Amino acid sequence: MSFFSKLGKDMILPPDVLIQSKETNSVDGAINATIGMATENGKVMKIKEIESIIKNLNFFEYLPYSPTTGTDNIRKLWKEKIIKENKNINPDYLSTPIATTGITQAIDTVANLFSQKGDALLLPDLFWANYLQIFTIKLKNNIYKYNQFEDNKYDLKNIEFILNNIKEDKITILLNFPNNPTGYTPSTEEFEKLTNIIKQFTNKNKNKKIIIICDDAYFGLFFEENHNNSTLNSMHTLVDCENCLIAKLDGITKEFYSWGLRLGFVTFYTKNSNLKIEIENKVQGFLRSSTSSNSTLAQKITEKILTNDKAIDEKNNNDKIILERYKLLKEIINKEKLNTLVKILPFNSGYFFTIKLPNKINAEDFRKKLLYEYHFGVYAMDESHIRIAFSCLDNENIINIIKSIKKCLLNY
Ligand SMILES: Cc1ncc(COP(=O)(O)O)c(C=O)c1O
Repeated sequence: MSFFSKLGKDMILPPDVLIQSKETNSVDGAINATIGMATENGKVMKIKEIESIIKNLNFFEYLPYSPTTGTDNIRKLWKEKIIKENKNINPDYLSTPIATTGITQAIDTVANLFSQKGDALLLPDLFWANYLQIFTIKLKNNIYKYNQFEDNKYDLKNIEFILNNIKEDKITILLNFPNNPTGYTPSTEEFEKLTNIIKQFTNKNKNKKIIIICDDAYFGLFFEENHNNSTLNSMHTLVDCENCLIAKLDGITKEFYSWGLRLGFVTFYTKNSNLKIEIENKVQGFLRSSTSSNSTLAQKITEKILTNDKAIDEKNNNDKIILERYKLLKEIINKEKLNTLVKILPFNSGYFFTIKLPNKINAEDFRKKLLYEYHFGVYAMDESHIRIAFSCLDNENIINIIKSIKKCLLNY
């Protein structure tokens, strides 16, 4: 008999991005474009004002426990922020956000409260690997994957086809825009079509319950006009489907350049006010039995960030730096004609872009060659895709990485 429980036996530490990032850091002079952070000159990109916010906090503000759901003030401020940034929604249907330990805990909470063994999870073919830890290793959901792109266009037909072939009665649809790893956010028209696909499906299958998770980790980093779309805002009419529940998961991690503060939020959008109350109690109970309550320090800092013009200006400036990197990246990709050598998946937002390598090149081999011969670390996601975090690349390195990838490919 083993010491481990069934879950303990199943649990793994995946050989994922953190290991590849560690390897990159061990190579002298290598530039790290593996991880989901934003950096400048190799150091974390920051909102400097946070330092004076922290210095001016007093013990009595941050030492006490906060309520399990989060401080009243942060919950109110975050709700106001969501309402301001999602003009189409009806504030009456929006629950008050509940604070979680990072967005990861928000996902884990929703996954645990609404899905279990034998339920279905619908994902694109490329996705944030941690979803699998939560939904399959812990919860034994059945995974259905659709192609995100066909001929480098958002593949709505495939989403519709796969969704309509799901037999399970409980389905979680996980939408993550701006997307990790591709950096794609659908256009306004694509969002409209996607909403209709889900609406038709839910209306046709009244016996099924559909949970829509909007993983908004990279919210706000939208770089193209027609793709400047919040998922909740674009899909808000799904609230009319009684068998559909929408959850918006977001946080300060990437939005406020505060990866280590570990503050996320879970917010629901539903017309059913009794359900809203019931869900709030259940989420509270779930958090009570895991982290009990969130860091009061992180919440107090965030309250001050959200009400401090200087901090907001700095956040907007950082967003602009990433936008400029995006523009330069597009320019240099075109100039070097990189798409004649590899398939660059469509991207218009967020931290990343993804390359599909030619069949004869293995992604892990390519990653190693690029790292040890050209001193750039990227993330090999599977056999054929590499993800590059341009959020970690200063302008000169954006130019250099594209040239290095090209050379590396030509020298294969
Ligand atoms: C798509 C996506 N969702 C969620 C998270 C988790 O965010 P957090 O660090 O707030 O837990 C990440 C982090 O990289 C992510 O890329």
